[in-house]
Amino acid sequence: MSTKHNERKTEPRLGIEGLSKNYLVRSEAIPALDGIDLTIEDGEFVAIVGSSGCGKSTLLRIIAGLETDYAGRVSLAGKSITGPGLDRGMVFQEHRLLPWLTVEQNVRFGLKTGYSGEVRKLVDEHLDLVGLSGFANAYPYQLSGGMAQRVAIARALVNQPELLLMDEPFGALDALTRIQMQQEVLRIRKAEKTTMILVTHDIDEAIFLGDRVVVMSSRPGRIKRVIKVDLPHPRDRGSYEFVKIRQEIYREFFKEAELPFSYAI
Ligand SMILES: Nc1ncnc2c1ncn2[C@@H]1O[C@H](COP(=O)(O)OP(=O)(O)OP(=O)(O)O)[C@@H](O)[C@H]1O
Ligand SMILES: [Mg+2]
Repeated sequence: MSTKHNERKTEPRLGIEGLSKNYLVRSEAIPALDGIDLTIEDGEFVAIVGSSGCGKSTLLRIIAGLETDYAGRVSLAGKSITGPGLDRGMVFQEHRLLPWLTVEQNVRFGLKTGYSGEVRKLVDEHLDLVGLSGFANAYPYQLSGGMAQRVAIARALVNQPELLLMDEPFGALDALTRIQMQQEVLRIRKAEKTTMILVTHDIDEAIFLGDRVVVMSSRPGRIKRVIKVDLPHPRDRGSYEFVKIRQEIYREFFKEAELPFSYAI
């Protein structure tokens, strides 16, 4: 008799329960994260905002399995995360491409399995996905910042991870390229249906992309608010609803910084 227990979707895609993290600095424990609880469902897009040093990168690094010394539980589809895995892809603020490899070789470098025909197909598909089919033989120094980040996204997606983690991936790009990259991310999400977590300093970017925006408080990082963005795509950054959410998030930051709130719509 066959059972389909393994296929039950009762576990959230990502479960974080009571997560706390201290860094040891000169034998003193410095709290970076404190009591984080967050559940992310299959296919969801969660944007995380918070002031510098509040632990956003630490949180992503723990989910990526790059940081394993913490208290609490972090699980993917019910399985505790104990280290890095192909089920998670990561994009960093700087593209981290290998300068001596071509675009195609950089994406191929990220691929951990497969025989040569399959590898070729996956690499081609993912270069196509990020709109860089014509640049397979280019070297990183021949790319613009936006193109290099597209390669980094292709490299992170080539193993077809369940979860894509992005840590301020467009921070170094100019405003217009950044907006174009946001559109790209939406297109990729629609095509791949990957669950995504984006850390960003750009509040509009968080509202433009996220199904929910997680607002963190500064040190030690705690979740202050989770704001649902119930707006259809494509989102209008000037719409009343969009501006209202922006105002709510600003209000949180102003409150924490004890600044007088002066943002009217
Ligand atoms: N390896 C480390 N050793 C000691 N302290 C660390 C280490 N990494 C981070 N920290 C500290 O932990 C806190 C959180 O750092 P983290 O890099 O996660 O912040 P962040 O929210 O990503 O900041 P930013 O927005 O500036 O990137 C900071 O106070 C930082 O100094
Ligand atoms: Mg960071």
